[in-house]
This record gives sequence, structure tokens and C-alpha cells, in this order.
Amino acid sequence: MAAHYQVVGSTSAAISASVESGIRTGDLAAGDALPAVRALAADLGVSPATVAKAYRELRQRGLVTTAGRHGTRVRPRPPVAARRAALLPPPLTGGRDLSAGQPDPRLLPPLGPHLAALAAEIGPPGGYATDAVLPDLAALARDRLAADRVPAAELTVTGGALDGIERLLAAHLRPGDAVAVEDPGWANLLDLIAALGLRTVGVPVDDDGPTVGGVRAALAAGVRALVVTSRAQNPTGAAVTADRADALRTLLAGRADLLLIEDDHAAELARVPVHPLAGATPAWAFVRSVSKPYGPDLRLAVLAGDEATVARVAGRARVGAGWVSTVLQRLVVSLWRDPATAGLVRRAADSYDRRRDGLVAALAARGVAAHGRTGINVWVPVPDETVAVTALRDAGWSLAPGGLYRIAAAPAVRVSVSALDETDVPALADALTAARKGPFLTHSV
Ligand SMILES: Cc1ncc(COP(=O)(O)O)c(C=O)c1O
Repeated sequence: MAAHYQVVGSTSAAISASVESGIRTGDLAAGDALPAVRALAADLGVSPATVAKAYRELRQRGLVTTAGRHGTRVRPRPPVAARRAALLPPPLTGGRDLSAGQPDPRLLPPLGPHLAALAAEIGPPGGYATDAVLPDLAALARDRLAADRVPAAELTVTGGALDGIERLLAAHLRPGDAVAVEDPGWANLLDLIAALGLRTVGVPVDDDGPTVGGVRAALAAGVRALVVTSRAQNPTGAAVTADRADALRTLLAGRADLLLIEDDHAAELARVPVHPLAGATPAWAFVRSVSKPYGPDLRLAVLAGDEATVARVAGRARVGAGWVSTVLQRLVVSLWRDPATAGLVRRAADSYDRRRDGLVAALAARGVAAHGRTGINVWVPVPDETVAVTALRDAGWSLAPGGLYRIAAAPAVRVSVSALDETDVPALADALTAARKGPFLTHSV
């Protein structure tokens, strides 16, 4: 639908500022179409080249996307803070929100006892940290990564997995470069890549991880980086198997032109082993977050990699934010060392597995083949996302439309099981099965 916002300006800078202002105020919402280049140029009395330049600049900053005959549209989550109300979807009253891929807050380990213990032992206030990584944290992280066969001689700490990925891409790539990403893949990563002025090349993903053919095609297309989710792939739940890892390692062996990034965001919450690709290429990084098992608010991830890559990330951080607070690092050390916390994380993982497997099985019993091998999401193919999301909303379930996660993959909806109780699984499976049929079949007699 075309937006009814009047873009103004007589220079490319003024036109792009006008679009940005519309996004900020909420007058231009995600998905809104901008006027066609020639039409706007005629309207504003400027040359089409001026409008095209404005749109290009907005595209390079990730505010808009241009897709052939669909024209130029505002991206789902443009990197400019809109007024809060403009960002919020219409509230679902009395229903169940399964659209947010957050860990279940009921299953996160309590931080209180660890903060209390820290308060007792923390000592006098510290100044600027001299090392980016506390020795205790580095030692524990190395042990944990070594147990998973990830070489971790070189490592640093970032403010979460996505921060690590952003720093890696910024350190190795230049605007306009192409990044191979899983398709479907994590919406935030797609938004980040757009915001960095990089391009995405989609790699199909099956339950075993990115397909070998897909990665081969992306390499042939000249990608400069490849991002692979080790386990609990968002949104499909894929986990890289031993066989897939072997095949990908063989394909990638020695590729000096490629930065290989692995995102192990689920970490201890995934009950399948990790099969790392780390070290297959000269430039690589393996990022492991604490967000899913221990809490997103901790904002910490460990980043291991080859010496040059870790040095670039750590060196750039040193001239910027500096380091991740040592208070936070100590808190993570305390959580990692605590056997009771490890027990809680295992219980959380079991709970997600039961709910996710239960939903996949209930859908299979109704003839619907859904995906969800690991993690907190289930990916349900549907013929029409808008029809399915609307029908489910009417039935009291809020789900994420697959369009947020897809490049060329087939339509689907994403169900986050974090807010799903086991007792609700049959009702949701019924609603999903009906919603897939669309309004015509469900309303026919
Ligand atoms: C694939 C993937 N990577 C990373 C993250 C987030 O990691 P962090 O909170 O450490 O940035 C998420 C969160 O949903 C995710 O789905």
C-alpha cells in the first residue's frame, strides 16, 4: 500500500531527510511504499537522478529496500528510532503472544543470589579496565569452547552475539559487500546487514543447517562473509550436523577471501552437540552468547577466532567502548561456576524441547510438516502468511509472519514456544492447521 506521507525536498539530502523524518514520526510505517522515482521527481520538480540518489542513500543505511516491481519500501525495522507507538503492533487482547523469540522469563536463572555474592566480594571500586577479558572468564570460556572442539586460544568479549557479528562485519567488510545468510534467517541479522550498507545473499537452510549447494552458490556470487547459526537456528530450529559440518568444512577449506562467522546463540540451551566449522577458513570467528540460557539482559558473548580477526575486533573496541564491564563478566563467571544454575539451564532446555517437539508432533499428526529440531521456535509453512497470521489472530494467537525472516524462502509463520504452555499445544495445532487452509476452505460447507 502506498503511504499517504508527502515527501518533500529539492535536493537528494533533503528528500532522504524527509523520508527519514516520516519514519521517525511513524507517518511512514514498515512496509509502506515510497513514491516511484519518476513520479516523485515530477512532483518535486527535481531530476529523477536526484530522487534515485536519495533512495540509494536510504537503502545503503538500511532504512528502505528496493525489490524490483515492488518498488521502494520502508524496511521492517529501519535503524532509526521511531516514536514508540509506531513500533508496536496492535495489542492482542485476551490472546497468547507467540511472536517474540525471547527466552521464557520463567526459566531464566535468578540473578539475585549471584549479585549478592558479587556485592560481598567485589572490593573497592575499579577504574578503567586494562584487559578486555577477565582472566577467570577467559579460562572458563576456553574450557567450555575446547570441550566443543572450538579452538579458543584467541578470544575476546562483546556485548552479545549480535554486537560481535556487527564488529566482525565492520572489521572485515566494506559497504556494498555481500554477506551469505541463512534463508530463512534471523530478522535482526538481516536488519543489521542492511543498516551496515551490506548486501545479503540467501543460503537455503534445511534441518541440518545451511545447504552445501546454497553455500557453494553464495561463494560463486562473491560473498565476503558467511554467517552460520550452529544450533537453534532462528526461525527454523536447524542445527548443523556432523555430516553437514564436514561437507561445509571441505567446501570452505582455505577460502582466504571469506570471513566465516558462527553464531552459537543458544549455547547451553541447545541439547544437541555443536559441530563447529571454526578454523576451516583463515579468517573465522565463533560467537557464543549467554543471552538464551542465562538472560538477554546480560548482553555478553564470547568471541573466539583467528588471531588477526580477534585482534581487529578487540583493537577496534579498545578505541571505542573499550570493554564489556567487568562487573558483568564477573556475574557470568559466577553463573558458569554454579552447578545449581547449570541444573536450571538443563531444566529450561528440557522444557523448550518438550513444548517444541510436542507442537511439531501435534502438527505432524494433523498432516502439517513443520520445522523445529532445536531451540525455541517452530517454523510452519503456510500458503499465505497474511491469511494465516490474520486467521490465527482471530483465533487468539499472535505469531510472527515469515516475511520478517525470508529472502526467497517459501512462506511460513514462526511460533515461539517460550510463551506456549504444553496444555495449549493441541488447540494451537488445530488453529494452525485451520489457518493454513485459508478462509475459503474453512468457511466452505
Ligand atoms: C540466531 C540468533 N543469534 C543471536 C541472537 C541474540 O544474541 P545476543 O542477545 O547475544 O545478541 C538471537 C536472538 O534471538 C538469535 O536468534
